[in-house]
Amino acid sequence: MDLFEYQAKELFAKHGVPGTAGSVTETAAEALAIAQKIGSAVMVKAQVKTGGRGKAGGVKFAATPEDALSHAEDILGLDIKGHIVKKLLIAEASDIAEEYYISFLLDRANRDYLAMCSVEGGMEIEEVAATKPDRLARISIDPVAGVDVAKAREIAEAGHLPAEVLDAAAITIAKLWEVFVEEDALLVEVNPLVRTPADQILALDGKVTLDGNADFRHPDHAEFADKDATDPLELKAKENDLNYVKLDGEVGVIGNGAGLVMSTLDVVAYAGELHGGVKPANFLDIGGGASADVMAAGLDVILGDEQVKSVFVNVFGGITACDAVANGIVGALDKLGSAASKPLVVRLDGNKVDEGRKILADANHPLVTLAETMDEGADKAAELASK
Ligand SMILES: Nc1ncnc2c1ncn2[C@@H]1O[C@H](COP(=O)(O)OP(=O)(O)OP(=O)(O)O)[C@@H](O)[C@H]1O
Ligand SMILES: [Mg+2]
Repeated sequence: MDLFEYQAKELFAKHGVPGTAGSVTETAAEALAIAQKIGSAVMVKAQVKTGGRGKAGGVKFAATPEDALSHAEDILGLDIKGHIVKKLLIAEASDIAEEYYISFLLDRANRDYLAMCSVEGGMEIEEVAATKPDRLARISIDPVAGVDVAKAREIAEAGHLPAEVLDAAAITIAKLWEVFVEEDALLVEVNPLVRTPADQILALDGKVTLDGNADFRHPDHAEFADKDATDPLELKAKENDLNYVKLDGEVGVIGNGAGLVMSTLDVVAYAGELHGGVKPANFLDIGGGASADVMAAGLDVILGDEQVKSVFVNVFGGITACDAVANGIVGALDKLGSAASKPLVVRLDGNKVDEGRKILADANHPLVTLAETMDEGADKAAELASK
């Protein structure tokens, strides 16, 4: 999960990373009040989960609270690369002598962590990497040893930070590593990390990506979830541990295993061309254990999508055999009762396929059609959706 800058800075503050005072708001009137309270020049900063806010006019200096008000009015509602600005961070403006870059990230290719540091901060780091690669230090971090102040100083030095600020920078960089580890982040980036005229080191921007797989260790991270931006069905699927992605079409798709679900999407899209151009409505992978509960949760999510006109359940029985899946479907339909109202095409194959088909045939549910093959099932589901 990517965080907004203001959320990243909440985590920074928790771990003692120095920055400037600020508050977040959704209204221009409150932006004025915050600026008055801060009592000095402020920056009005669009809170959107995309880079290049400054260039897009989303980061503005305000010498007075009145300026903050007018910038807030301009920036709220602004479209930055498809992200509409709903929140602003009003942060005390700092005097800046120099701008640096620092980040920690997971380096999957090398199976360890990577620190990147550069004296050339403020601008896009991709540009530094392309035009002055020698100015961008890349230092791999031993995950067991981590980053203490001495290692942090080495990183700052490799990034060519000037000698006078190495000590202060090392302390802050070590604290950012603490954020990275203790909050289970995949990315912690500060651009710019600034040097003030008094040689203080401050984090003026912050980008943090949290590792969703570690959410169970961080109940306090739940408040960072951007409920506005999350599709309600995706939220419901997530609560049930289902891998679900909403798409635009009319045929709901349930399968077991990402590979099978992806090929099912292709087959449905292909079949849909013969039926007025209907398309898959979603991607839903129920994974290995297709019990009645999991199947019910999956069907519940898909049937909750108003765009769905029919559902294609395509399951290959493996460790979870087809009879268990069939029982899951029958149990799910019982459980959902009148909430299940759209036709279901079911194709089973693999382990215990005959038993599974028999269970569905015996149940003889009016909404269920059995298909022998994947192509036949996709065609039938597309036809039903086009009616
Ligand atoms: N609190 C602050 N005080 C003074 N200057 C600031 C402050 N915050 C940001 N700035 C200035 O504005 C510039 C852009 O701000 P920031 O890095 O937060 O946004 P951005 O880089 O445009 O956005 P993104 O990082 O999303 O691409 C900084 O490089 C810095 O010069
Ligand atoms: Mg920045």
